[in-house]
Amino acid sequence: MKGKIKLPCGVILKNAIGKSPMSDSLGDGKGNPTKEQIRLYERWAEGGTSLSIIGEVQLDYSYPERPGNLVLNDASDIKLFKELTSKALINGSHLWAQIGHAGALSHLPISKPKGPSLLDIEGLKCEGMSLNEVKNLPSRYAKAASKAKELGFSGVQIHAGHGFLLSQFLSPLFNKRDDEYGGNIKSRCKIILQIINSVRIEVGDTFPISIRINSSDNIEGGLTQKDSLKAIGFLDKTSLDLIDISGGTYFPGAKASSDSLINGPYFLEFAKKARKITSIPLMISGGFKKKDEVQSAISSGVVDMVSIGRGMIIDTNLANTWINNSGSDPIFPKFEVVVPGGITAWYTMRLTAIANDDEDNFNLDLINALESYEKRDNEKCFIWKKCTDGTSSLG
Ligand SMILES: Cc1cc2nc3c(=O)[nH]c(=O)nc-3n(C[C@H](O)[C@H](O)[C@H](O)COP(=O)(O)O)c2cc1C
Repeated sequence: MKGKIKLPCGVILKNAIGKSPMSDSLGDGKGNPTKEQIRLYERWAEGGTSLSIIGEVQLDYSYPERPGNLVLNDASDIKLFKELTSKALINGSHLWAQIGHAGALSHLPISKPKGPSLLDIEGLKCEGMSLNEVKNLPSRYAKAASKAKELGFSGVQIHAGHGFLLSQFLSPLFNKRDDEYGGNIKSRCKIILQIINSVRIEVGDTFPISIRINSSDNIEGGLTQKDSLKAIGFLDKTSLDLIDISGGTYFPGAKASSDSLINGPYFLEFAKKARKITSIPLMISGGFKKKDEVQSAISSGVVDMVSIGRGMIIDTNLANTWINNSGSDPIFPKFEVVVPGGITAWYTMRLTAIANDDEDNFNLDLINALESYEKRDNEKCFIWKKCTDGTSSLG
């Protein structure tokens, strides 16, 4: 765990424990960081992680996952972003932006969802992208990555997991296209390969680029392990620095890792197969609760890094604790009443408490957490709408 990781671009990560991307709902509603959010990332850097990834940083205002997302565009407040990136980079820690586009899962009150293909099924409707709109994606991702670099992020992650836009391209369930971007896995992966290529040209050879990809969507008709392994074979031929393996989707009624109470690690068997296909460094996320599990995944050589989500919300100092042998494994809460989305909401609200240095007084139950989470996001939707009037139809 202590060992350094040298990425293909030459950057060195100081240890093998990452903090998973987690949408924190702490943006100001205009796509800029808040003081609380800056403190949150500073705390993880103080806590010893080598790599913190901010979840769901949007390409623009059009297709957000939530109204608390950050946005990388010409309206980005340079001063606030620089404060965020400088505080989060202390202690040798990295901060990467997970560049996202929520596609069919864009937050309905503030967007008109659009995915690879038109969808009209129960609980999920979206328009399909034109060929021109698909072809524009690489330059849009490249522009956002370049902005991330300018604002002080030390790397980017392309979000192709969990049922959002690029994950939808990979999924036969969402991607019904009959042009060069639909059909077999090679065609469904094509846009991702083009995006990686464009991002690399824009950010240069020495800037880390990662991807988050599902081992499988865990949903009937979605991306299978077999196809995901083929996709990893294609990714192996790119200039990526780190492949982050996750799984599941936020498709209504489906399984998402962040809402799972099952003990993990979730995707280790898949990672073993991926290891045989690629020499690009691998990171795995999902279900790690104990130091021994992390240690064993790394020392067996299956993965180079493990990234921790909810464990890092229970204990922001977890990387230090594990690396220095200075404490015990985190104690996870047990929930008596579980409601859909409630666990993710509970962890998101605990992030707010951490951001206020007040987690010792955090005592919301699942239902109250979900209510507070929805209420705050509804309020932010008004701000988002105001500042995006007339700009939310970029494709
Ligand atoms: C509050 C919360 C927000 C999350 N937001 C994101 C996100 O923005 N992007 C992403 O790829 N995954 C997101 N996830 C999923 C985590 O990165 C991680 O994959 C998942 O929680 C499983 O790992 P864990 O068992 O260590 O928590 C989120 C998870 C939580 C708990």
